[in-house]
Amino acid sequence: MDRDRVKAFADKVFADMAGTMTAGMGYIGVKTGLFRAMAGKGSMRLDDVVRESGLTARYVEEWLKGMTCAKYLDYDAASETYRLPDEHAFLLASDDTDHFMGGLFVMAPVLLRVAPDIAAAFVGGGGVPFEKFGADGVIGLDLMNRGQYEQRLAGYWLQALPDTRARLEAGGRALDVGCGAGRVCLALAKNFPAATIVGLDPDRESIRQAEAAAAEAGVSGRVSFVAATTGSLDAADGFDLITACDCIHDFAAPERTLEEIHGLLKPHGTLFIIEPKAADRLEDNFNPIGTMFYGFSIFHCMTQSLARGGPGLGTCLGPARTEALVRSAGFQNFERLDIKSPTNLFYAARP
Ligand SMILES: C[S@@+](CC[C@H](N)C(=O)[O-])C[C@H]1O[C@@H](n2cnc3c(N)ncnc32)[C@H](O)[C@@H]1O
Repeated sequence: MDRDRVKAFADKVFADMAGTMTAGMGYIGVKTGLFRAMAGKGSMRLDDVVRESGLTARYVEEWLKGMTCAKYLDYDAASETYRLPDEHAFLLASDDTDHFMGGLFVMAPVLLRVAPDIAAAFVGGGGVPFEKFGADGVIGLDLMNRGQYEQRLAGYWLQALPDTRARLEAGGRALDVGCGAGRVCLALAKNFPAATIVGLDPDRESIRQAEAAAAEAGVSGRVSFVAATTGSLDAADGFDLITACDCIHDFAAPERTLEEIHGLLKPHGTLFIIEPKAADRLEDNFNPIGTMFYGFSIFHCMTQSLARGGPGLGTCLGPARTEALVRSAGFQNFERLDIKSPTNLFYAARP
């Protein structure tokens, strides 16, 4: 046995557990507003942070020390002050923007609290159904994605589909399949005021949150949500655009659902797909995002599909399997769109 390798690997195990604890402390930073309380304030003493955040001093003290060890905060020993660098605040105290990364931390406890159920499923099969992740799960997914949907979908990503944009501007029809908390629908409603927008998701809690978000945004009259799967929609109405954002790999019956989506598109319609940015070959996913995605898969995406008797395609579906699935559902045209993102892949499919 190579003793140096044992030592190096022990360091890695400590680093990985430290990462898990950092995610937990990151969750606290987002949920309690600590990151926002420190953003743009420069160097702060403990009592400054306590005053700005309104939180309990002893907890804040331990969090400041832990986040300093994790290199999220700068520390000046001489003045005993802590500072959240502007570059870190840009990513963690920037809720509702397309560069906010704090939503990842909000998902951490949602995912890990089902770990005992997942361990049982490794033994006995089955999985954890989507509903079991609860309202927090829907909120976490929303926080991970909403800034990008609000700020990039209509103005940037859909620029890749000029014909579709023109149809929506003229009053076309769009459907978001697996709409979750409804942000894609709200972005479409805001940017295409003449269009009819429908959001569909079998999860009732997601639809409840989507309807509340639409009411808050003042677009309830122009967006409707339905707690159902695509089989329940009337194909006669037809859609110019169907979006499937971060959900094809979650489907319990992906072939059938994609066939139903195919049937719901108008002849000139487009299916716009967003999937996690995973490579087809395992060896091309050897990076932190690959590790994170396999964790998301085990603790969420794959298990909730297996729980419903689905194939459990998993988060790392990858381009080749996505294309094969979509083509086997009857789509004649499949194209990977040239849209840059560290975490997403984009495709357009046409009947
Ligand atoms: C990872 S979430 C993504 C939610 C949202 N699109 C987003 O990007 O934030 C996947 C969503 O797909 C939904 N879903 C699962 N199976 C579905 C099906 N057969 N038809 C429509 N939606 C489905 C889930 O309920 C869940 O809301």
